[in-house]
Amino acid sequence: MARFHPLPVAGVDRLTDDSVALTLTVPPELREEYRYAAGQHLALRRVVDGLDVRRTYSICSPAPAPDAEGPSTLRVGVRLVEGGAFSTYALKEINAGDELEVMTPAGRFTLDPAPGVYAAIVGGSGITPVLSIMSTLLAREPGARFCLIRSDRTSASTMFLEEVADLKDRYPERLQLVTVLSREEQQAGLPSGRLDRERLNGLLPALLPVERVAGWFLCGPFGLVQGAERALRDLGVLRNRIHEEIFHVDSVAPPPGATTPAHSTVTARLDGRGGTWPVQDGESLLDTVLRNRPDAPYACKGGVCGTCRAFLVSGEVRMDRNFALEREETKAGYVLACQSHPVTEKVELDFDR
Ligand code: FES
Repeated sequence: MARFHPLPVAGVDRLTDDSVALTLTVPPELREEYRYAAGQHLALRRVVDGLDVRRTYSICSPAPAPDAEGPSTLRVGVRLVEGGAFSTYALKEINAGDELEVMTPAGRFTLDPAPGVYAAIVGGSGITPVLSIMSTLLAREPGARFCLIRSDRTSASTMFLEEVADLKDRYPERLQLVTVLSREEQQAGLPSGRLDRERLNGLLPALLPVERVAGWFLCGPFGLVQGAERALRDLGVLRNRIHEEIFHVDSVAPPPGATTPAHSTVTARLDGRGGTWPVQDGESLLDTVLRNRPDAPYACKGGVCGTCRAFLVSGEVRMDRNFALEREETKAGYVLACQSHPVTEKVELDFDR
């Protein structure tokens, strides 16, 4: 199960005016716990005015090989969100030598290196997990090629510009790099503008053999990911070849008329121990569990990160929204506890499965 540990900050590197990369040191005894797959993220936690504030940030460094030791450092990308409780702190206050509460890696936006053609469409900070995916794949799998299509406002606001250029230098034949800037004309390359569904429909077949791409990785703001997914579906790409990670979605009101049945209870198993507790009207199953088990895993509480994934053992739930679980996972019986409300009087969840 996901756990927090205090990890020292080894360095804070400024990437752009509004973003940094944080490097964290992992002591030898925790290296196996922090072993990660390319594309996973870490939740960071701090207490502000008595409230537990958690945010997830993707790891940007290459993943350790399965037969190598777990990582001695972890590097994540953090972009400033206006008014963001954690990102403001990360950009303005965190220094090398500080300690941060860091959850063990999680997330299923991952790629196991294998030969083939892969592609990503990313916007803004969506480059962060894809940088880890690309660098891991290209280093470990000589039979793999990668096409990165990235969209940013200007080159000055582009995160990991140098790291991506270095990868291109190292793998000129196997990495194809396409940049679209929305607010700046490039001397060479594509005209400026938004990377929307219509534009991608025309662009993608000209760039690569769409039907041969084994995995598409879409990451960034909701609008970009949704437009890219629709463009890929227009081009006949199968749903199971498309992987998505959305970085931020606005909160939504619960659907009208949705209520919790009277006397609802949730039974949950967590880290080998179980319990049964009453669900208060309107609250999510995660909130019920958290009131009784503060160690329940979560990060975003917004249906985006997937940290609160649990197996629905019995009963029925209604999920407000789901931007984290793949269709196969929901079919297999997994739910996001932070988005789930009971439909039946009794619901049973297993966080350990
Ligand atoms: S806590 Fe992030 S999806 Fe539930």
